[in-house]
Amino acid sequence: MDVAVLTIFPEMFGPFWSHGIVRRAIEGGHLKTDAVDIRDFTEDRHKVTDDRPYGGGCGMVMKPEPLAKALGALKERKPEAVSLLMTPQGRPFSQKTAAELAGRQGLIFICGRYEGVDERIVEQYVDDEISIGDYVLTGGELAAMVVIDAVVRLMPGVLGGENSAAFDSFADDLIEHAHYTRPRVFEGRSVPDVLISGDHAAIAKWRLEGALIRTFLKRPDLLANRKFTAQEIEILKKWSKELEELIQVQSARCLDSLSGR
Ligand code: ADE
Repeated sequence: MDVAVLTIFPEMFGPFWSHGIVRRAIEGGHLKTDAVDIRDFTEDRHKVTDDRPYGGGCGMVMKPEPLAKALGALKERKPEAVSLLMTPQGRPFSQKTAAELAGRQGLIFICGRYEGVDERIVEQYVDDEISIGDYVLTGGELAAMVVIDAVVRLMPGVLGGENSAAFDSFADDLIEHAHYTRPRVFEGRSVPDVLISGDHAAIAKWRLEGALIRTFLKRPDLLANRKFTAQEIEILKKWSKELEELIQVQSARCLDSLSGR
């Protein structure tokens, strides 16, 4: 995949390209990267990329000409690339969007600064607008890194034998089960026995139950629109039955104590 980032701070991306999985993806030939300085597409002596907003008000707006020139050049080199504007007004980024983008041949990230970019750039050059959350950053660079990071690890061959992306939290609208590594006992807390049992079916069931309960407790919103499998329904029914029994025993005890028995 070809990734280009349009930014006034291309130096921010150096450390990002040179660590972890992103670096491995580049070294493995899965990813080609280019941090393009928008200032290189200005024509004035001071390389100005922003200007005052028409209509007044505070803050500055990114000038359209340098962006249009930069995008024009990039699109000519990478006609198949989708251009994505990083903005808090964009489509909320999710694991699903990451998977969608991972299937693309090329991505061009436009990192706004100040109050945003001139609207004519959005109308003419932007294919999609993406937000990484309901908060306002000082620029789109960190947002672009977040998106690239989430996308790269989903690209075929990047995680190699680990194949862990398929089991990620959110991959199937469930939060992941708990993870443990050595030592077996840490600060008096033991790793659950089932994980040491060697019984792969039991481990898979424990993990699925864990994922379900964690999602129920931490992100119940994810469950509302989820299509459950037959095994998951069985697990939920079992919990429901166990809870029902517990409630019955407890309410009987409560009634007993009220009546002085
Ligand atoms: N630029 C500023 N804030 C942003 C956000 N929340 N998401 C994407 N780009 C941004």
